[in-house]
Amino acid sequence: MEIGPGTRAFITGASRGIGASLALALAERGVTVGLAARSLDQLEALSASLPGEHFAYQCDVRSSESVKAAIDRFADEAGGIELLVANAGITHYGPFRDEPLDNALEMSEINWHGTLRTVHYGLPYMLDRARGQVVVISSGAALRSFPWAAVYGGTKAAQRLFAEALRHELSGTGVSLTTVYPGEIETTLHAHERDRMPDWYRGSDAADPSHLAAKIIEAVEEDRRAVYFPPIVRLLQLVHNVSPRAGDALLRRLRGGTAAPRRD
Ligand SMILES: NC(=O)c1ccc[n+]([C@@H]2O[C@H](COP(=O)([O-])OP(=O)(O)OC[C@H]3O[C@@H](n4cnc5c(N)ncnc54)[C@H](OP(=O)(O)O)[C@@H]3O)[C@@H](O)[C@H]2O)c1
Repeated sequence: MEIGPGTRAFITGASRGIGASLALALAERGVTVGLAARSLDQLEALSASLPGEHFAYQCDVRSSESVKAAIDRFADEAGGIELLVANAGITHYGPFRDEPLDNALEMSEINWHGTLRTVHYGLPYMLDRARGQVVVISSGAALRSFPWAAVYGGTKAAQRLFAEALRHELSGTGVSLTTVYPGEIETTLHAHERDRMPDWYRGSDAADPSHLAAKIIEAVEEDRRAVYFPPIVRLLQLVHNVSPRAGDALLRRLRGGTAAPRRD
């Protein structure tokens, strides 16, 4: 799908990080963007700073009513939706046995059920016109899960299998889907837990979200099935799929023993 003036994009989790970078990259291409998240002040400030006319919606993806209202308003105010980006997400890293159940459930609600709600309410607008692209922001953690990210990886893997199946279901409808598997990207995702991240995590090497945004736009224009960024994410998936043990060995070399502590 060609992206440019006339394209209307709705993005959840657009107040900062990957969502905000993607909003900027799209706005620079002339796209009209619907920015959705809980922080309305940040959305309005971002909207005002972007070239062109955009719309900001306070939206909590834990609520079906909230997601439906934001998407319906954007489709009405902008006149339609061609690009729907399910991006909102959070993390709570730590050993599962120590993790409060509420943290696990919150990740499931936002990362996974939030994606379901976004696609459920946004897809009909694109199917009606037989035109559009859904983008699901999953994670490299969906391809090979990491210790201390058992639940986070689970929510990202749920997005992945949902998105892969849906891409097939959408065949012939004029609507398609791209799944995005980011590695470590420089955002505020772990800002609340920087002091207790697992040893295998390397925030210092995190990639610039604007580079990921450019890859996403390219992938949508070429209707690619998936984006793996940085490319090491793809290598980890390939090795893990051939042999999980070899994947563990590779991760130990790259990230140390805490990335794959069991050797059986
Ligand atoms: N950064 C990475 O290394 C990385 C790697 C792989 C995958 N990802 C994925 O990329 C996506 C974006 O994350 P990010 O790295 O850009 O993180 P971020 O900088 O923390 O941004 C997260 C965004 O999600 C929004 N959000 C959180 N809870 C929400 C809720 N209940 N309802 C609506 N919006 C909500 C936040 O806005 P409000 O707080 O204002 O609601 C914010 O705009 C996530 O799905 C994440 O899993 C990130």
